[in-house]
Amino acid sequence: MNLTLTINGEPVAVPNVSPTMTLLQYLRASGRVGTKEGCADGDCGACTVAVIGEGSDGKLHYQAMNSCIVPLVSMAEREIVTVEGVANGSLHPVQEAMVKTGGSQCGYCTPGFIMSLFAAYYDGTVDDLAVEGNLCRCTGYASIRRAAALVTGAAPVDAFSERLQHPLNPLPPLGLADRESPSEQPFYRPGALSEVLMLLQRYPEAMLVAGATDLGLELSHHRQQFPILISLEAVTDLRFIDRRHDAVEIGAAVPLSHIEDQLRGVFPSLDEMLHWFAARQVRNRATLGGNIGTASPIGDLPPVLLSLDATLRIAGPNGERQIPLCDFFKGYRQTDLQPGEVIVSVIIPTSPIPGSQRRLSQSYKVGKRGTDDISIVAAAFTIDLDADNRILHARLGYGGVAATPARARGVEDLLIGQPWNAATIELAKVALYDAFTPLTDLRGSAEYRKRLVVNLFEKFFVQHP
Ligand SMILES: Cc1cc2nc3c(=O)[nH]c(=O)nc-3n(C[C@H](O)[C@H](O)[C@H](O)COP(=O)(O)OP(=O)(O)OC[C@H]3O[C@@H](n4cnc5c(N)ncnc54)[C@H](O)[C@@H]3O)c2cc1C
Ligand code: FES
Ligand code: FES
Repeated sequence: MNLTLTINGEPVAVPNVSPTMTLLQYLRASGRVGTKEGCADGDCGACTVAVIGEGSDGKLHYQAMNSCIVPLVSMAEREIVTVEGVANGSLHPVQEAMVKTGGSQCGYCTPGFIMSLFAAYYDGTVDDLAVEGNLCRCTGYASIRRAAALVTGAAPVDAFSERLQHPLNPLPPLGLADRESPSEQPFYRPGALSEVLMLLQRYPEAMLVAGATDLGLELSHHRQQFPILISLEAVTDLRFIDRRHDAVEIGAAVPLSHIEDQLRGVFPSLDEMLHWFAARQVRNRATLGGNIGTASPIGDLPPVLLSLDATLRIAGPNGERQIPLCDFFKGYRQTDLQPGEVIVSVIIPTSPIPGSQRRLSQSYKVGKRGTDDISIVAAAFTIDLDADNRILHARLGYGGVAATPARARGVEDLLIGQPWNAATIELAKVALYDAFTPLTDLRGSAEYRKRLVVNLFEKFFVQHP
């Protein structure tokens, strides 16, 4: 497959692109070796580049991404800035700031920090969160933070900000031209859901790919061959957020950073979990549909969505159907998704439970480190109380304690009708300890996880008396 894109202002044509080649592999193979490879897992940020894309406000922004897990084909017709492109005759202000504060020693992480700061600089959002996905092993963060402080709050007007004024063309469909030669066209980027469904009918062995932050790891390590990939990135029917009087519906292919921006304050437990979800580079690509579709027992958003009684809208060859998320996960990495089906959206109800006077809702994530880490246990709770402080409705969602994300249904039943007080929590704690049979692995023992199941609920009570 041939594709064109723009790198540092120059149009680039790439012939014979393999759909399993990552953007980083291409950049380095084409001599743009300023972009570094550290982990090839999306974890360290050394490979960060800035890609122009539409933000949640509909305007163009520079979005930081980990090029090591971005399939090159998904960058067709996009405009990319790499570290080689930021100095325009003289050092860019973010580079100058790093030099001034001594923000680099071995320099291996530095291009990634520069690109994360660069993207945030044009958004006026340079802060610690802008570099939460960038690791430095030798300089120490104090001087990098001092560099960030030097460019905080800037409202730059230059050639780069100028570029953001020109709208991008919509992502063009890829690969549909030659439907008869799947072996030569193994990557499709349809523009409509109907085309996705048609492609799935035609190629039942095809794999859906959204942000590729899960699948990208398979690509970067060449662990898996994908006969045919169908990208959901340009499918407009999957990229919407609809706020209705009784529910919010989120398209499966909406990047998490858009959800963060557009729904802030609507679901406190979702806000909290998104804050701890990976890092900005990953949230700019990762989608809700991908987090559910991957069906990981340690996916962070399913526990939140379980606690909010979310329902999935699914489209397939026989039309559309809806299924409560709590019935969707069938076993380890197994879901109710049938051949030819796609998750279209997630519907989260917002209408209050009848009789509810107060809703308590929060989520918690316990990992080995604060940001950019996999959960040991994630939990999300929603409790509705009546006028007498009795529990009307209880949802306790957990991740990392079973083969699938799961609700503690027995404990939910036990809580209904009980007063929201310390005595009830003591009862719940006993039941919660036996609610799951988690595994021991490198991250934590089964016993540790059982105690987290209990203690996180107690913490919730202490924080929401
Ligand atoms: C550095 C790093 C940090 C991470 N941190 C976290 C974290 O903190 N918490 C967490 O939960 N996860 C984390 N992840 C995992 C990953 O980012 C999430 O699971 C993400 O939501 C996947 O979304 P995606 O769009 O990138 O999915 P993709 O990789 O594109 O797809 C994942 C799976 O879902 C399927 N799929 C995608 N969309 C649909 C759809 N609409 N219908 C049906 N199937 C679909 C695909 O076929 C594939 O099997 C991290 C990943 C990386 C690389
Ligand atoms: S090389 Fe570490 S995030 Fe890409
Ligand atoms: S300067 Fe060496 S890893 Fe950051």
